[in-house]
Amino acid sequence: MPINRTTPLRVAVLASGRGSNLQAIIDAIEAGQVEAEIVCVISNKKDVAALERARKHGLKDLFIDPKPFAGRPDSRETYDRALLDVLQQHEVDLVLLAGYMKIVTAVLVTAYVNRMMNIHPSLLPSFPGLDVQKKAIDWGCKLAGCTVHFVTEGVDEGPIIIQAAVPILDEDTPETLAERILIQEHKIYPRAVQLFAEGRLKVEGRRVFIDAGKLTDEAIISAV
Ligand code: GRF
Repeated sequence: MPINRTTPLRVAVLASGRGSNLQAIIDAIEAGQVEAEIVCVISNKKDVAALERARKHGLKDLFIDPKPFAGRPDSRETYDRALLDVLQQHEVDLVLLAGYMKIVTAVLVTAYVNRMMNIHPSLLPSFPGLDVQKKAIDWGCKLAGCTVHFVTEGVDEGPIIIQAAVPILDEDTPETLAERILIQEHKIYPRAVQLFAEGRLKVEGRRVFIDAGKLTDEAIISAV
């Protein structure tokens, strides 16, 4: 992992929609809180807000259309091979999935082992997948939250880097809960990227240790 770099960490963000996590990372970089450079923002959807946000900040935005790859048995892998080419051309060190609504295949995962992160709006391993705020409420959980984890082939299954917990209130709807979780997402994702940039994330099996830091202070954020 990069330590004492002379050039900033080269980051690619993959997003399919609104791009608020992308924005949080852009803002943290611009504020000097994250020592990284976003070298490209890539989407599998055309004309999404995430690409517009990238353009506004003078970042390179790319739409890679899945259509030409569709209908083949290995369409997901061939798409990822095209994506990987782009990442390699841009000499990307770290890939960030931020609302990227496409399951990544082994093609990308093996090229970026412990160098690709995802953010998910639940306290994993509870509630992987979709509609997770509703599932947490329906289950009667008292705490929800969000998780930044490294990406492996299993969906939302990789080693956990940072989590933030958010209480579930009696009057919460999936929307109100999602809003409060999102505030925490915007804090923990930039933080995870900065820890990576500092070379402080050590992965041992399923566990991620934060080097030279107080593990509990840095890996858990609890919000009211
Ligand atoms: C976030 O809730 C993230 O946790 C999930 O998808 C949503 C993306 O939101 N993976 P945004 O596009 O970053 O605003």
